[in-house]
Amino acid sequence: MTYRFKTDLTEADVTPEADFINRRALMAGAGALMASGLAGSAAQARGRYDVDAKPNSFKDITSYNNFYEFGTGKGDPARYAGKLTTRPWSVTIDGLVDKPGEYALEDILRGMTIEERIYRFRCVEAWSMVVPWNGFQLSELLNRVGVQSSARFVAFETLFRPSEMRGQRRDLLQWPYREGLRLDEAMHPLTLIATGIYGKPIPNQNGAPLRLVVPWKYGFKSIKSIVKITLTDRMPPATWNMQNPREYGFYSNVNPNVDHPRWSQASERPIGGGLFSRRRPTLMFNGYAKEVAGLYKGMDLKKNF
Ligand code: MTE
Repeated sequence: MTYRFKTDLTEADVTPEADFINRRALMAGAGALMASGLAGSAAQARGRYDVDAKPNSFKDITSYNNFYEFGTGKGDPARYAGKLTTRPWSVTIDGLVDKPGEYALEDILRGMTIEERIYRFRCVEAWSMVVPWNGFQLSELLNRVGVQSSARFVAFETLFRPSEMRGQRRDLLQWPYREGLRLDEAMHPLTLIATGIYGKPIPNQNGAPLRLVVPWKYGFKSIKSIVKITLTDRMPPATWNMQNPREYGFYSNVNPNVDHPRWSQASERPIGGGLFSRRRPTLMFNGYAKEVAGLYKGMDLKKNF
């Protein structure tokens, strides 16, 4: 399958974060290398991310967060996640795979194509950002471990370590945080495992060292600090869905036509716009309908919310 990611922004539209520009320069350098036949993947990766808006600042992205393992306040993750040890790190991949095991982070990253993807990010709470992620396609990892033909879903789990994650010492949610995707959603080329933001290693508050990013779904599907990935034939438990199934469905595709029982999803508040920030209409599938609507053909999206 070949997917194209539209790139209708020019360099000039991108937030002038100094290191992002530097990274761009590096990428350009990689292009030159490729021209001389010395390097490939980095330059080839350029332009495959989806952009249609100005990325938020690094500060916005890393200081206004949801990561209940560190508390429920938007500033709690930035304040407390520094405590989290992310090395050594490993991810157990099990269930319906040919090569189950506990994989060291370094082994997972070895040979992966790290791409830049500028994605819209829409929280179920009706705020939004635009984030320049670095990461690899989840499909690359799943293909490496060999998905068996009976697998239908992918389940994910976050680290459980109350000694470093102060929110886990309280019953804020059922720990560990869990999420799940249908296999075809997990294999979709837009589905990313993020390892960085603005070319820097992903900060702890954003889900270091590996976090899921599914740009057409509400942000809570994008589970952080992953330690377990299980291929299964059953729809797996998902934290917010278990917490309140009436309010949070398993699919949780961004859908302006299906309101949350307590608020409208028709519009959103972009973070970082300051005084002039206006609400803007929320787009079906968060603007990725062209790429993903086909996954839900024939489904009643009001029922399967
Ligand atoms: N993952 C874990 N483990 N714990 C969480 O509380 N919050 C989710 C999601 N992933 C959460 C999580 C929610 S509600 C959102 S909106 C996004 O992370 C926020 O990601 P960000 O802080 O990088 O913007």
